[in-house]
Amino acid sequence: MNGHDSQPPELQKLLACAREAALHAYAPYSGFRVGAALKLTNGEIVSGANVENVSYGLTICAERSALVRGVSQFGPDIRVEALAIANLNEAASPPCGACRQVLAEFILPQAPVLFPAASGLRTMPFSALFPLAFEMKLK
Ligand code: THU
Repeated sequence: MNGHDSQPPELQKLLACAREAALHAYAPYSGFRVGAALKLTNGEIVSGANVENVSYGLTICAERSALVRGVSQFGPDIRVEALAIANLNEAASPPCGACRQVLAEFILPQAPVLFPAASGLRTMPFSALFPLAFEMKLK
């Protein structure tokens, strides 16, 4: 599905939360303000914004910011059933590879992920976005 209005109301609400979170971004170095909102299986919505640092590599993306907030607030058993991402720059912003790997431990494979793409708003299940997560299974 493409476009904000064609989304189910639940996902439209999540997207609005992501946009609102982006207003809180700390992005003085890139100027790229991102917000992410997670819908948890316990019914809660948790959002986060990117927080940059002058030592650039210490920057935290909006998606991980929301996730660590969710775990901190509700504990390690949280599960994400939907994720929305927004930015204030009218640019494409699918979740970066590092965020996908981190999300993989907490998000349901079928969870819809909404993000701004070059073609407009895109939605796809997390498993399509990140099919081969690293797992540690020792023999
Ligand atoms: N950023 C995110 O918040 N999420 C992503 O998935 C990709 C990038 C942030 C990090 C940095 O503050 C800015 O966008 C530019 O890379």
